[in-house]
Amino acid sequence: MRHNVDLQQLTTLRLPAVARQFIQVDSREQLLDSLVSHDRLSQPLLVLGGGSNLILTADFEGLCLRVRSRGIEPQYLSDNCVRVVVQAGESWHDFVDHCLQQGWYGLENLALIPGTVGAAPIQNIGAYGVEVKHLIDHVEVWDRELQQLISLSNEQCSFGYRDSLFKSGKPTRYVVISVAFDLTLNFSPQLAYGGLSEQVVDVESLSARDLFNTVVRVRQQKLPNPLELANVGSFFKNPVVPQAHYDQLKLQYPGLIAYPDSHGMKLAAGWLIDAAGWKGYRKGDVGVHERQALVLINYGGADGAQLLALAKQIQTDIQQRYDLFLDIEPRII
Ligand code: EPU
Repeated sequence: MRHNVDLQQLTTLRLPAVARQFIQVDSREQLLDSLVSHDRLSQPLLVLGGGSNLILTADFEGLCLRVRSRGIEPQYLSDNCVRVVVQAGESWHDFVDHCLQQGWYGLENLALIPGTVGAAPIQNIGAYGVEVKHLIDHVEVWDRELQQLISLSNEQCSFGYRDSLFKSGKPTRYVVISVAFDLTLNFSPQLAYGGLSEQVVDVESLSARDLFNTVVRVRQQKLPNPLELANVGSFFKNPVVPQAHYDQLKLQYPGLIAYPDSHGMKLAAGWLIDAAGWKGYRKGDVGVHERQALVLINYGGADGAQLLALAKQIQTDIQQRYDLFLDIEPRII
């Protein structure tokens, strides 16, 4: 165990914060050992994967556990299904790449998402028409209340849009140990999402690797590389509003972009923020990305309070203009 460890370079927003206690685990066994020996229910626990969905606003007065456990185990279930059990610390993008090399399909649209496999179910990562919940069979977790390993079925994980039991249910109760994915052995591209299908010229000859490369290219065009500009991807969730609210907004703002959702219409928050004039805004070391208004940037010297102050300004402006609230997507510590 180490003490007073600087977390700034371990998260993609690079906000200043120190963890009072810090352990890095490189295997599943070390992860479980650390949870059994060092985790006290009374002390706060911060589980750190790739640090790509965290906003650190203060020093962390507890134990930070950096999870780097590795392991990818396939089990062939039928002619067209492989169950792949992956340890939490594997890099998400490298895992997606590995799947293609093995001929396991389904995750292509989720290429280049930063972070680790263990973090994927927490916010139910999604992109280009696919959410990871569609491919997860179960999640193995350490239950800190019961002090035992348990397996949660897909249904028990209560996945929603950028949401799950691990985020909104009891966020400090479970620690993800491994995730089991059901993938297919026959490639079938998911091209429903507009921005992606436009990029594909010949669907007939499209390979999984082509689709993966297309997703990587589109993401690189739209989203800043966290190694170059500190960010956490989408800072806000796309808000869902009732149909009547959408109809009224659409009259006022004919360019408004939205997609049908089971609870109404899901509006493109990036469009709303962009149309409100925030794109490219910068004040001191915080700002709004110049190509994607949904992404907030730390230009170097910002702290969590400055970033949240900008988020608050945007939320207030959006509320006044469109009469809706933008939820912050990453986790605030
Ligand atoms: N748009 C603008 N101006 C902007 C940004 C977007 O007009 O500044 C418009 C775009 O032109 C597009 C629409 O808004 O017509 C939606 O934009 P985009 O396709 O880039 O997707 P998004 O809604 O901004 C969501 C996810 C992303 C995911 C993409 C692709 C959320 C909160 N974000 O972004 O996820 O990669 O779709 O599927 O749902 C993340 O969660 O960190 C993330 C990057």
